[in-house]
Amino acid sequence: MSKNKKNNAREKIIESKNVPNKNDSALKEDEKILQSLRPRKFSDYVGQKSVVESISIAVKASKERKDTLDHSLFHGPPGLGKTTIAHIIAHEMDAKLFHTSGPALERPADVVGLLSNLKNSDILFIDEIHRLSTSVEEYLYSAMEDFRVDFVTGSGAFAKTINLPLSQFTLIGSTTRVGMLSAPLRERFGLSYHLDYYSIEELSDVVLRSAKILDVNINEEGANEIANRSRGTPRISNRLLKRVRDYSQVKHDGKINRNIASEALEIEGIDNLGLDRLDRVYLETLLKNYKGGPAGIQALAATINEDQQTLEDVVEPYLLKIGFIIRTPQGRKCTKEAFKHLGMTPPVDNLIQKNFFE
Ligand SMILES: Nc1ncnc2c1ncn2[C@@H]1O[C@H](COP(=O)(O)OP(=O)(O)OP(=O)(O)O)[C@@H](O)[C@H]1O
Ligand SMILES: [Mg+2]
Repeated sequence: MSKNKKNNAREKIIESKNVPNKNDSALKEDEKILQSLRPRKFSDYVGQKSVVESISIAVKASKERKDTLDHSLFHGPPGLGKTTIAHIIAHEMDAKLFHTSGPALERPADVVGLLSNLKNSDILFIDEIHRLSTSVEEYLYSAMEDFRVDFVTGSGAFAKTINLPLSQFTLIGSTTRVGMLSAPLRERFGLSYHLDYYSIEELSDVVLRSAKILDVNINEEGANEIANRSRGTPRISNRLLKRVRDYSQVKHDGKINRNIASEALEIEGIDNLGLDRLDRVYLETLLKNYKGGPAGIQALAATINEDQQTLEDVVEPYLLKIGFIIRTPQGRKCTKEAFKHLGMTPPVDNLIQKNFFE
């Protein structure tokens, strides 16, 4: 690996308590605002009631026992609050959180170095944990289970196994693809939670909470309109709130109601179901180029000229959730509702489609 690449990997390891670091100065304005909207306590975290209840009991119990929290895994679509919850746990446990990600831990040396620097009760947060390489993952097995790592130095006759004891740390993993985690890794998490899409009411609360922090004047209907178009995702609610705020400030008097929110979001290309340009390109390709499917994800990605993983992680989960597409062994298919939403008639001349829609 080149020296540059190695440094990059290191830079991705951020200690959360050292707030002003050089990564922060490079943060775009948008990201800074989004960070300021991140809830810091369980009581500020909207929705995901059963997850919050269970994890907060585990946190309270380990705090009372002066014990470390079990390794915890959070999975679910992007922007639903996995990273946020990891930071809340660290805050509530009064623990230091070290933030890294699967792709940043390229070599076993990266992970061994990181693990050996952890102190008792520290939290190691690994984002995109499904992207760890197998060799790095294997070091985590003994680290998680027995708080030690064995590594070999030298080679041939000079090879020596060094047994390195570690402090009692907590590993928190986050992933949008829990199915890609190997069974041995998955089984080493004592706590595992799935975060699901938020309801409109919960997202309205997220919008109202963020509006208060950003000092934006919005009424309940305005918040509800933004929530309706947020694809069940708080990160999207926050982003849309900022777009609507800009629009109302420039075109109106800065006060947001339902009409202003809906005008602003139409201009942004967000339709009444919250689908954006990429969602519509995906659906139109499947509907027009593949007559509604079935189409393989690789073929779709190539036709749209978009990264396959983005389609699988960001676009498809919500379209599946609202019943616009289904996954079959032959590939993706559109449903009648998707045709209807885009104002198209299902192609009845197509035998597969005909059977499918009848
Ligand atoms: N429960 C919540 N209540 C209020 N705001 C939330 C909640 N969950 C997430 N948010 C907001 O959404 C933003 C995105 O959340 P977060 O970064 O935790 O998502 P994520 O699940 O880690 O996404 P990714 O998979 O892309 O890493 C946060 O900055 C926060 O402002
Ligand atoms: Mg995250």
